[in-house]
Amino acid sequence: MFTFAGNMSTIIKHPKNSFTVMNELVLPNDTNTLNNLMGGRLLHWMDIAAAISAQKHCNRIVVTASVDNVSFQHAIKLGDVITIEAKVTRAFHTSVEVRMDVWAENIPSGSRIKSNEAYYTFVAVDQSGRPIPVPELSPETEEEIELFAGALRRRQIRLILAGKMNAHDAKELKALFFNE
Ligand SMILES: CC(C)(COP(=O)(O)OP(=O)(O)OC[C@H]1O[C@@H](n2cnc3c(N)ncnc32)[C@H](O)[C@@H]1OP(=O)(O)O)[C@@H](O)C(=O)NCCC(=O)NCCS
Repeated sequence: MFTFAGNMSTIIKHPKNSFTVMNELVLPNDTNTLNNLMGGRLLHWMDIAAAISAQKHCNRIVVTASVDNVSFQHAIKLGDVITIEAKVTRAFHTSVEVRMDVWAENIPSGSRIKSNEAYYTFVAVDQSGRPIPVPELSPETEEEIELFAGALRRRQIRLILAGKMNAHDAKELKALFFNE
């Protein structure tokens, strides 16, 4: 359960409240001519899983603001089952960061490999598409606390790359490299 202390902006949620699991079977229409899953199809499924997770946290319509770099280390084959686990790592003012872990499983052979990890950012919007405040997120486990702390630095990197933040203002990011 999450804590409700009055109005929408004082709701405090935990990462488990946004935990989402999505499964997909890789079918012929999802693959390239080598019978491997197309990267774009996987990104599409990840966008859906992450959006569901962000909506669970925000209880609002959300839009994808950014997708961090995603690399494909292993080919995923026709017939594999994809499992995407998503949860919110940190809520800012109107945006949330969602982390995903993606697994590829071949059920007949019993093999299961980690395919990707990725972070997507969503912004909660009203019916006119204007950003609106989201509930706070309170991490509980050691892993969630670590992801929560790292989210601030990841946010600074993506805002700098998007031209929405001056690198000089990225205090936490700079502290990683310089003793300031
Ligand atoms: C995302 C969007 C709502 C941001 O609107 P905006 O007017 O630029 O709003 P602001 O600059 O005030 O930023 C609002 C929030 O978005 C975040 N944001 C904006 N650009 C971002 C980016 N490139 N990466 C991560 N977060 C971003 C800001 O950090 C801010 O978060 P905060 O309130 O938690 O601090 C707007 O750009 C939009 O609607 N984009 C299209 C979304 C869409 O259609 N997605 C699907 C693409 S196919």
